[in-house]
Amino acid sequence: MKIARMHEFGNVDVVKLDNIDKPKIKSDEVLVAVHAAGINPIDWKVREGHYSNPETDIFPFPMGWDFSGTIVEIGSDVNTYKIGDEVFGLIRFPMPAGCFAEFVAAPVNEIAHKPASLDHEHAAGIPLVALTAWQALFSTAHLQAGQKVLIHAAAGAVGQMAIQIAKWHGAKVIATGSQSAKNLCLSLGADQFLERNSFEDQINDIDLVLDLVGQEYIERSLKTIKPGGHLICFTQPIPAEISKKAADKGIKTQFTIVSPNGEQLKQIAQLIDDNLLKNKIEQIFSLDQIKEALTLQQSGHCHGKLILKIK
Ligand SMILES: NC(=O)c1ccc[n+]([C@@H]2O[C@H](COP(=O)([O-])OP(=O)(O)OC[C@H]3O[C@@H](n4cnc5c(N)ncnc54)[C@H](OP(=O)(O)O)[C@@H]3O)[C@@H](O)[C@H]2O)c1
Repeated sequence: MKIARMHEFGNVDVVKLDNIDKPKIKSDEVLVAVHAAGINPIDWKVREGHYSNPETDIFPFPMGWDFSGTIVEIGSDVNTYKIGDEVFGLIRFPMPAGCFAEFVAAPVNEIAHKPASLDHEHAAGIPLVALTAWQALFSTAHLQAGQKVLIHAAAGAVGQMAIQIAKWHGAKVIATGSQSAKNLCLSLGADQFLERNSFEDQINDIDLVLDLVGQEYIERSLKTIKPGGHLICFTQPIPAEISKKAADKGIKTQFTIVSPNGEQLKQIAQLIDDNLLKNKIEQIFSLDQIKEALTLQQSGHCHGKLILKIK
């Protein structure tokens, strides 16, 4: 089968399309014929070595963490799926997974049935970003209806999920982004849109900040949060002096990392089929265009998912 793998850390030229045997599945896994896979910022960050660590630095490194496809083989202990089922998932993250491939072996507890209302291209763009938003809002922040949530980089793929999921749960959502992000954020349900250069002068009393940018946004955001509030950053650990400053004001700060979760993905699929959550594709690429897709993702200004169509 064809698979995209990085052969060392570096620029897109370290990514090669290789021909290897199909993966062998374990008893609690299924083999999936991948129809489409999602490109995420983590793909270039890992490729450049930003998250280098002895456990995950395995070369050649099979790239890609989320996918949508059809089950073609079932492990001996699997009784919740059958051959022919259409499934999607975020798998093995942050260990290597290999979803930029014609076939992938997927742990059964990390997948869910694909939403019936979505094609594979749209479904492949859901798992990583929707689970990121879901886990931050519910598992980490325990969001309550009526709370005010400020979302930075809200027109990006995670931000779009976060706006819709927070609104569905009854929160008041304030989005930030570049001017070109305004209409999209409002159309997804944001109650207010603020230009990112001056958001901290325009709001206060925020219960929860989802910071998808990091750096100076962390400290600037503290000015907007009320005592007892919470800031979750997705891009970097919170510097100790900022955590302390926040704690002195009664604000909790956290860096969180998404994890695979088939049960949560099932709830997300239901929201999609109930027409309460949608995603937007910015561009679809073939597997042969992987370098182009990774380069566009790295430009950092997408307002929708980049998808690899594999079959
Ligand atoms: N910790 C985790 O588990 C986790 C999970 C998923 C994602 N992430 C991280 O979260 C971030 C967003 O992910 P994503 O998938 O939503 O990315 P994305 O779809 O590429 O969106 C990124 C957004 O960031 C905005 N942006 C770019 N540069 C900016 C800047 N200097 N200041 C403010 N906004 C800026 C862009 O909006 P404009 O074009 O409007 O500027 C763009 O829409 C990435 O850094 C990603 O690695 C972390």
